[in-house]
Amino acid sequence: MLDLGCGSGAPVVRDLVAAGHHVTGVDISEVQIQQAQKLVPQADFIMADATSVDFPGGSFDAVVSLYALIHIPQDEQLPLLERIATWLRPGGWFLCSTGQHEWTGMDENWLDSGVAMWWSHADADTDRAWITRAGLTVEQEEFAPEGGRRACAVLGTTSAVTEQASGIRQPAGGRANPQRVRPRPGPRTGPIPNVTGGGHT
Ligand SMILES: C[S@@+](CC[C@H](N)C(=O)[O-])C[C@H]1O[C@@H](n2cnc3c(N)ncnc32)[C@H](O)[C@@H]1O
Repeated sequence: MLDLGCGSGAPVVRDLVAAGHHVTGVDISEVQIQQAQKLVPQADFIMADATSVDFPGGSFDAVVSLYALIHIPQDEQLPLLERIATWLRPGGWFLCSTGQHEWTGMDENWLDSGVAMWWSHADADTDRAWITRAGLTVEQEEFAPEGGRRACAVLGTTSAVTEQASGIRQPAGGRANPQRVRPRPGPRTGPIPNVTGGGHT
């Protein structure tokens, strides 16, 4: 499995390894990669930009990218999604967090940390269209309000699960109910995997 934008490797890479999977984590941050290597020595980690890293076609049973696509410039997200689709084996799965509402901008004092954080995400409809255009079929999606426990979403080819994770700039009373999307006709090779997140939001 591949975790794109894996951060420190906890909890996602750690939990996937504990579940018996061989996991490769990719992150652009050297500090995060060093931390991940310490926390999950059983996994492989690559310090790289997700928008330029490459893997052979059909390399992965599943790709996860949680709370990471939303930090990549919007105009680079569709090309990345198209490449992710090629990295998946037929019938593989993709799980990602997307934005709920379009927004690109900076929070100068993220979570009162004194650290600035930058986001760039489309709205859920656009993300769904991009994922579909990339060749994946959205199997399941859910809205996960930030600050609450992370909900699971599944999209996919190949198959994908999405999670509109960003409550940033979300209007009051924003869409809070899970949505399900009719799968694109085609063979399913297995059940939707248990991909519940680790609840670190
Ligand atoms: C909010 S953290 C999420 C980390 C992890 N996926 C999780 O859910 O705990 C976002 C991560 O994406 C990484 N990231 C941001 N832009 C990236 C890029 N272009 N390529 C690879 N990683 C990136 C950051 O370094 C950071 O570790």
